[in-house]
Amino acid sequence: SVQQEEYRPQFHFSPKAHWMNDPNGMVYYNGTYHLFFQYYPDGTTWGPMHWGHATTNNFLKWEEKPIALYPDSLGMIFSGSIVVDQHNTAGFGENAFIAIFTHHNQKIEEAKTGLHQYQSIAYSNDEGKTWTKYKGNPVLPNPGISDFRDPKVMWYEAGKKWIMTLATKDRITFYSSANLKDWKRESDFGANLGAHGGVWECPDLFPLEHNGKTVWVLLVSINPGGPNGGSATQYFTGDFDGNKFVPGSKAEKWIDYGTDNYAGVTWSNTGKRKIFIGWMNNWQYANVVPTKNWRGATTIARDLSLEEKAGDFYLRSVPVKEMNAQLRPVYKKQALTLHKEIELSAYAKDLHGRLKLDFTFNTTKSIQVVLSNKEGQKLLVGYDHQTKTYYIDRTHSGAADFEKGFAKKHSAPRIATAINARISLILDVASAELFADDGLTVMTDIFFPKSLINGIKLSGNGNQKITNIVISAIPSFK
Ligand code: FRU
Repeated sequence: SVQQEEYRPQFHFSPKAHWMNDPNGMVYYNGTYHLFFQYYPDGTTWGPMHWGHATTNNFLKWEEKPIALYPDSLGMIFSGSIVVDQHNTAGFGENAFIAIFTHHNQKIEEAKTGLHQYQSIAYSNDEGKTWTKYKGNPVLPNPGISDFRDPKVMWYEAGKKWIMTLATKDRITFYSSANLKDWKRESDFGANLGAHGGVWECPDLFPLEHNGKTVWVLLVSINPGGPNGGSATQYFTGDFDGNKFVPGSKAEKWIDYGTDNYAGVTWSNTGKRKIFIGWMNNWQYANVVPTKNWRGATTIARDLSLEEKAGDFYLRSVPVKEMNAQLRPVYKKQALTLHKEIELSAYAKDLHGRLKLDFTFNTTKSIQVVLSNKEGQKLLVGYDHQTKTYYIDRTHSGAADFEKGFAKKHSAPRIATAINARISLILDVASAELFADDGLTVMTDIFFPKSLINGIKLSGNGNQKITNIVISAIPSFK
């Protein structure tokens, strides 16, 4: 059964069979959260892209639906977004779902003119079940840019117009439209800013309120060039006036320092709440990870907010609040002193590799969480007080021979400065998501243990004070 398949996540979304990459077109409507995704239904490696579809109302239990968009004469269906057309600006009906996506044309690609990607739209009048492609596609032809893709569209209320944020090779280009069909170029951003180790992809632009102020956030995925190798997602904070994005600082920031959170964007139609989800994989090895009937999953969905620090803004991402209702604490302690080791395996042994661990510690000393299985494979998660970095070390965590750079230790700077730090760690069979300092530093790593994790211990030195430690069980939703 799906529940017993090796490495199968039990509360993260993964397709029943075959290949997935980017999350696409996430939209909230009528009490349901929709997730569409880059899907290849005929194999377990990347191939001609479709949009798969799944829904949820708690972000843990997912229901996979029939394929939403198939390739057509204009090309494969690459990444994009969905908006709810409340005011019927496009004329496809009030509250129609409108998907704005990239058509990728292989024949044109082979002709090497660089004109093979362009933006198209499709609409649904039954909440995403059935789709009709617009006869006038493409709505935004290629102007001569070889990487021209991944439109993320939002309604810009102050200017009463749609804004499309598009990845255009080494920068982001903003377009505007009154009807989702006719697009006007507004400006571009980023050719000389941020990380440029690879091509820019899958952007997202949205406002977040912080202490009564509106701050604009621009997410930009890059491949390769991530802080721990391969693909990763950087972000900028600043201002947007309907025409231009002006960054508030030049600092390089990453939404996640782990290797396995890519192409993430936010749900549309959620009001002031911003919910993010990423593809829990890395282009460096996504096609060769050792899962069998499927390849690819999403991260846990995350609530986004801002933190102001020295005149700059940082994103906080934490597991969506819906998750709390599903946790069953199996161990709780107010205060513990860690001299060398605290063995907690008795509490982990019946959790089937699914758990959440939360605790507060003192950052003047180091600490390490050792997660292990009966084969003695180990995933190490911790904080190094000398370098002020968090880390996940998957060097001896399980299968790694499929890619030579996989068995590694990844690290991330601590951004918070308080003496005490709180860590939340979520484990789902073959993934670890570390949220430190209430989501100011985040790391997501996948790993492939031979059997389920059933051991936990804490190790450290000195007199590390640990407070409010909780281990919680998480149910399977398969
Ligand atoms: C990002 C990406 C997108 C593209 C899609 C193709 O992972 O390369 O830029 O639209 O995947 O599947």
